[in-house]
Amino acid sequence: MLNNVRLENLVTILGEHDIDGYFMGANYDLKFLTGINPFPDERFKGLLVLKDGRKLFISPELYYEDFRKSLGEDMPIYVWSDGDGVNPTFAKIKDDYSLEGVKIAIDDSIRGIDLLDMMAIIRSEFINESSISKELRIIKDEEEVKHLQDAALIADKTYGEILKFIKPGVTEKEISDKLKELLMTLGGEGLSFEPIVASGPNSSMPHYSGNQRVISEQDLIILDYGCVYKGYCSDTSRTVFVGEPTKEQRKVYEIVLRANMKAEEAAREGVTAEKLDQIARGVINDAGYGQYFINRTGHGIGIEVHEHPFIKEGNTDVLKTGMAFSIEPGIYIPGKFGMRVEDIVVIEGNGAKILNKSSKKLMIV
Ligand code: CO
Repeated sequence: MLNNVRLENLVTILGEHDIDGYFMGANYDLKFLTGINPFPDERFKGLLVLKDGRKLFISPELYYEDFRKSLGEDMPIYVWSDGDGVNPTFAKIKDDYSLEGVKIAIDDSIRGIDLLDMMAIIRSEFINESSISKELRIIKDEEEVKHLQDAALIADKTYGEILKFIKPGVTEKEISDKLKELLMTLGGEGLSFEPIVASGPNSSMPHYSGNQRVISEQDLIILDYGCVYKGYCSDTSRTVFVGEPTKEQRKVYEIVLRANMKAEEAAREGVTAEKLDQIARGVINDAGYGQYFINRTGHGIGIEVHEHPFIKEGNTDVLKTGMAFSIEPGIYIPGKFGMRVEDIVVIEGNGAKILNKSSKKLMIV
C-alpha cells in the first residue's frame, strides 16, 4: 500500500534539492514508499515520483495485476510487453510528463543497461540519488523504532537459547542453522542476513563466510545474526568462549567491550558520526590494538540491514533523535583470533537507547 506521508516527504525533499524527479527500481526506497518489494530481475520496473507530486509506475506485463492491487487504482501504471521491450514506454512517459531537459535522480537498482536506453530516449540530466534516499529514511518514527526494538528482542532471545547449543564437536554450520531456526521460531519473519559463526582462527575475519569448522575446547566464537520483523532488521554480535579464555583473550575482550560501552554512552544528539567512531577507536588505539580494528564502528539499520548513518571516519553527519545504528567495534588479529560486541542503538533526547539487552559479560559455555 502507498504510504502517502512518506511520498509527501519525498516530494518535499525533491523540492528542497531542486530535483525534478526520482526514478527508483526494485529497491528499498520503493518498498519504503509503496510496500512492494519486487524481484529485481532483468525486466524493468520502477516508480517515478516528480517534484510536483505526480507519480507513475512502469511494469512488465506479467507483473501488472500484482502491482495494480498493491499500488491502487489511482496510480498511473505503464505496462510493457516482452515483445516490445520497455523503450517505447520510456518514450511515452517522456511525452506524457514532458521529461526532456529536466533533472532526474536515479537509484542503484536501475541497471546501467536500462539507464543507457533511458538516457538516449529521455534527454535529461540523470544524477545519483543517494542523498535523497538518505534523507528519506535516516530518521525513524516511533512505529519504526518499535519494530526495530521488537526485532532486536527476538535476536536477544535467540542468544539466550543458542548458548545452550554451543559445545565442542558441533560445527559452525550447525550453530548457524540453529541460529536461523531460533530466529524464525522466536518470531522473525526472515533473516536480515546469513548468520556469521566464526570460530577459533576464523574469528579474525569480520565477515567470515565459511561454516565447516568443528568447535573445539578453548575456542572463541563470534556470533553475528539478526532477523526481520514487520519489515525491520535486527543485527547483533556477541563473542563467546568455549572453556576458559587465555589471559590475552580476556584482555582483548575487555578492551572491545569497553570500546562498545564507551561509544554507546557517548552516542547522543549533536555528536557527529565520525566523532563516535573516534571514541570507540580511541579506546582500542590507547590499548595498543588500533591496527586490528579494521572496520567502521557501525552502520545505520532499518528496512535495510546496512543503511545511513554510517559511523565511520570522514562522516560528518550529526546524530539526531530517531537515527538507529549499530555500535560494533572489534579487534581482529590475523591468524589468531577476533572479537566483536555489537548492539543496535537509537538516538533519543539526551542519549541513546540500547535496543539489545543480551548480556555482554564475558561468556564461557
Ligand atoms: Co552490523
